[in-house]
Amino acid sequence: MKILVCVAWPYAAGPRHLGHAVSTFIPADIVARYHRMKGDEVLMVGGSDMHGTPTMVLADQEGVTPRAVAERYHAMHEKNIEQLGVRYDLYWNTADPHHEAWVQEIFLSLRDKGHVYEATMVSPFCTTDQRFLPDRYVEGTCPHCGFPRARGDQCENCGRILDPFELKDPKCKIHGTTPIPKETKHFFFRLSAFEKPLSKWAADDKEHWRHHVLTFMRSWLREGLKDRPITRDLDWGIEVPIPGYESKRIYVWFEAVMGYLTATKEWYRRRNQPEGWKDFWYDPKARHYYFIGKDNIVFHTIIWPAILCGYDKGLDLPFDVPATQFLNFSGEKMSAGRGKGVWLPDLLERFDPDQIRYYGIATMPETKDTDFEWEDFERRNNSELLAVYGNFVHRALTFADKNFHHEIPPAAFLDATDKAMIRAVEQQWKKVGQNLEFVHMKDAMKEAIHLARLGNQYVDQKAPWNLLKTDRAACGTAIHVALRVSRALAVLMAPFLPFSSPRLWHALGYDSDVHGTRWEGALEDVPAGQKLRVGKPLFSKIELGEPAADPAERFDVRVARIVDVREHPNADKLYILEVDLGDERRQIVAGIRSDYTIEQLGARKVALLANLEPAKLRGVESRGMLLAAEDKATVGLLMPPEDAATGSQILGVKGAPTLPFSEFQKFRFQVGPGGTVEFQGRDGEVKRTLAANGAPLRVDKDLKEGSWVH
Ligand code: MF3
Ligand code: ZN
Repeated sequence: MKILVCVAWPYAAGPRHLGHAVSTFIPADIVARYHRMKGDEVLMVGGSDMHGTPTMVLADQEGVTPRAVAERYHAMHEKNIEQLGVRYDLYWNTADPHHEAWVQEIFLSLRDKGHVYEATMVSPFCTTDQRFLPDRYVEGTCPHCGFPRARGDQCENCGRILDPFELKDPKCKIHGTTPIPKETKHFFFRLSAFEKPLSKWAADDKEHWRHHVLTFMRSWLREGLKDRPITRDLDWGIEVPIPGYESKRIYVWFEAVMGYLTATKEWYRRRNQPEGWKDFWYDPKARHYYFIGKDNIVFHTIIWPAILCGYDKGLDLPFDVPATQFLNFSGEKMSAGRGKGVWLPDLLERFDPDQIRYYGIATMPETKDTDFEWEDFERRNNSELLAVYGNFVHRALTFADKNFHHEIPPAAFLDATDKAMIRAVEQQWKKVGQNLEFVHMKDAMKEAIHLARLGNQYVDQKAPWNLLKTDRAACGTAIHVALRVSRALAVLMAPFLPFSSPRLWHALGYDSDVHGTRWEGALEDVPAGQKLRVGKPLFSKIELGEPAADPAERFDVRVARIVDVREHPNADKLYILEVDLGDERRQIVAGIRSDYTIEQLGARKVALLANLEPAKLRGVESRGMLLAAEDKATVGLLMPPEDAATGSQILGVKGAPTLPFSEFQKFRFQVGPGGTVEFQGRDGEVKRTLAANGAPLRVDKDLKEGSWVH
């Protein structure tokens, strides 16, 4: 059977987090590895989603080109994927000229067939910048679920796709102003024409689909399909191959999904078989799996199937779209765009990739949202992976190593207990396989761990340490059977834990590659007399120590009122200020003389970082620092809301320990939407909008979102 494993294309816009890995890379890799072991013909494709506004927003913030940002993060994703042991046949990217050319060809073909047409539409236009605002450049409240930061093209909370003017209170993400509606021309995809064929397809046998995916898709179809604009006013993306469209690009979602097809073509092109992709895309028996998160469901169960139908009726539609729900981190969705989550580069630096995979699979949000908890991460690794699986195989291996001349002892007479253990191997093998056939990763791995648990019980029951003195043959048999179970575990675990399985395989004395073993090979016996190579235990213990304290508690930021301003006698950029904190007065030196006059500062309220280590600036002592945001052109002070009392807390705790400047620099404050200011911890680890008296602070100048505050 042919199995095409399609993996959602991660945006090349910042590192990816564990939530991504558990909805896309990891389950895809498990399914691909399992089917390869079953002898199926597997092709696993995907790559980085280089276009799209997330990359552009980042490039804007950094002042570099979108291509530079995309290439940087493409390289990072590629590396993280490899470190995680995720084995694509082709990990590609959508900025490749071949992808672009094939996308343009599909676009033109759809236009020739009448599925793509030109029309005038009303788009949000930012009057500050004199330009149209595509997708993520507009944010507002979702009309469906009330999520306050839904984007112009989709609400990431409920997954609905949107028109920007459907948003309640839409705002330009950069300037915080309300965009005006303005007419412009775009190409549209005639999605409405596919309502019938897709409804028919949706009603076909989908017993094996996840309930939430099916419900989502069918409710979409019931609501009726509307045509969608598929070009955008942008300069980063795939060019529209039509004159007059030089300033527009093909919508990222319209082209990225085509990547599954173009990557298959590319894989064959590189093998000099330009027609080879057809084997995978025109074989009605081929199974196409799409590994995605739930915010991608509509694109993979409606839009992409419609494109396929429109392009060529003979092409295979998805066999299954096992979308996951969300993995939450302290209750909020792990989202790269919102600076939350547990980042892959960090995790991979700290832990064995199999430990990351183990916990990721064990908490995989297959049917409902789940929570990432550090304590749980530690506990499950130590008490399941290590204590059950690692321990079992280590006991069997070290016992044989010590008492049977570093060899697998022969099995003599098998008693009922031995036979039951061997039968359990076959039963667990079946259960793991059945679960994997239905893409139930969590249950599949649970059944594999259960085999190790049964193995531990078996060894306890046999007590080989007693038998060693009374019945050496029976002792050898018990250890032989235990090693046979270990061998089965190496095979069964290979799709889930691709690094520890080869280590175990090697320790059992095999020179071959466990990943090249057939799935049925799990049932084979171990050869008596085979030399063991016992090394370190398979897994090490995770000790996280005390949970990290809230980084905000390092700070003492309060509302202060300026009571006096004078020029610094020895520095023409500095002022000496006296500020009132309600219960004390302080002298502060601030470098804002080129941006504010003495009159502008008089009596105004500011945000004071009160626990910064005192310092002398050109001979004058400063006990604290005014927080201000800065871009290349200007400095803007943070303004507390009008009615916030002098002395009220903005961030952290009053009297927090003294913070050296070098420590302060490790934290990140930046301008957020609408001139608000966000505290982001060290690395986006937290996100908190600075506020006093319940209302946000704002920067008093029009600074770009993402500008630094210090
Ligand atoms: N880049 C999108 C995301 O991360 C996913 C795209 S999947 C694709 O949500 F198939 F459309 F590329
Ligand atoms: Zn919503």
